[in-house]
Amino acid sequence: MTPTSDLITTITAHIQSAPQQQITFASYMDLVLYHPSYGYYTTKASVLGPEGDFITSPHLGHDFGELLAVQFADMWCSLDQPTPFHLVEIGAGQGLIAGDVLAHLQQNHPDCYTALRYIIIEKSPILRTLQQKLLTHEKVSWSTLENLPPITGCLFSNELIDAFPVHVIQKHDNQLREVYVTVEDNTLHETLGPLSSNRLLEYFKLIGIDLLTDAYPDSYRTEVNLAALDWLDTVANKIDRGFLLTIDYGHTAQRYYSPARHQGTLKCYYQHRHHDDPYVNIGQQDLTTHVDFTALERYGVKVGLAPLGFTQQGLLLMALGLGERIATLTQTITPGPDSFNQLIQRRQVLHQLMDMSPIGLGTFGVLIQSKRLTDKPTLKGLTIPPLG
Ligand SMILES: C[S@@+](CC[C@H](N)C(=O)[O-])C[C@H]1O[C@@H](n2cnc3c(N)ncnc32)[C@H](O)[C@@H]1O
Repeated sequence: MTPTSDLITTITAHIQSAPQQQITFASYMDLVLYHPSYGYYTTKASVLGPEGDFITSPHLGHDFGELLAVQFADMWCSLDQPTPFHLVEIGAGQGLIAGDVLAHLQQNHPDCYTALRYIIIEKSPILRTLQQKLLTHEKVSWSTLENLPPITGCLFSNELIDAFPVHVIQKHDNQLREVYVTVEDNTLHETLGPLSSNRLLEYFKLIGIDLLTDAYPDSYRTEVNLAALDWLDTVANKIDRGFLLTIDYGHTAQRYYSPARHQGTLKCYYQHRHHDDPYVNIGQQDLTTHVDFTALERYGVKVGLAPLGFTQQGLLLMALGLGERIATLTQTITPGPDSFNQLIQRRQVLHQLMDMSPIGLGTFGVLIQSKRLTDKPTLKGLTIPPLG
């Protein structure tokens, strides 16, 4: 049997042994992405990068990680230069950000580097092995979130929360219903049923959205990322003093749950193409949704995280020195036959990181939360005010 048919057999068995022979979409998504033997992230070493299904900011070069390093050095100073200073990266993919952050701190912020301990929390065993091969660095170690002691420093992630399993809900006959996955004639189907948890209703109260108003059409379909709230609860407990930095594609709740976005944000990525069918290429394609930053911010307050600022990746990176990198480009490229091409390529990469078009990396949300700080610091990355 192929890994895909093994996974379909496993999903079918889960469905058949579940009450009413159906599982929530969140359980389905958890199985296809993270089943310990056949899940997409568990088995595919090449999910990311030009050879995989999608690329992320660190694949464009060293700039993203290096500019984040500037932010981390600034955080270290605002925490009064503690030793040890922990950077905890959650969901590190191929370990590219870690390599760039460490190299930049070592070179440019040696005191911060001396105090640094870099810990990676990675759910995928195959990606963890890859990271361990690439990052043979004395400063780096791996842990699980459960085993992580409370730290002083910063926990951070790039494109992590969009990979969490989500509940899919739909407005039907003026009620909120949940999408379940079931099996008929050996094929996976969707069916609507009652909400699997009251937490789904609490979620909408938290973010101040009421899908039952007339503004939302019947059949309005969207997602709820309860796993993100559970995760926030856990990570908040892992920060003794410091910051949580979250970078991902997403919106405020008002924009996420806009009546016009009537099919939600769920997307599937397979070999750099995206589409809307989560029931094909099972275990071979990524499933992902946008992040609701309002939920992270408001739930964060409940679990002890103070909101420090919400901005966009383009503005964060500009505040951290991306503009200077663009301005000095012509001076840093050495003259030679290929230099013009190199210059154009570098310029394109730097512009891509701050591309503010609707699907550009520059529009990614950046949320910084803090815990147990006596004063509210003005972080370098938050010094350019968000666009109105
Ligand atoms: C979309 S990739 C992003 C990788 C990397 N941050 C980057 O920017 O290239 C998501 C990463 O999060 C990991 N992941 C997903 N859920 C996780 C969890 N609950 N804890 C830790 N890692 C997780 C995946 O295995 C993968 O490495």
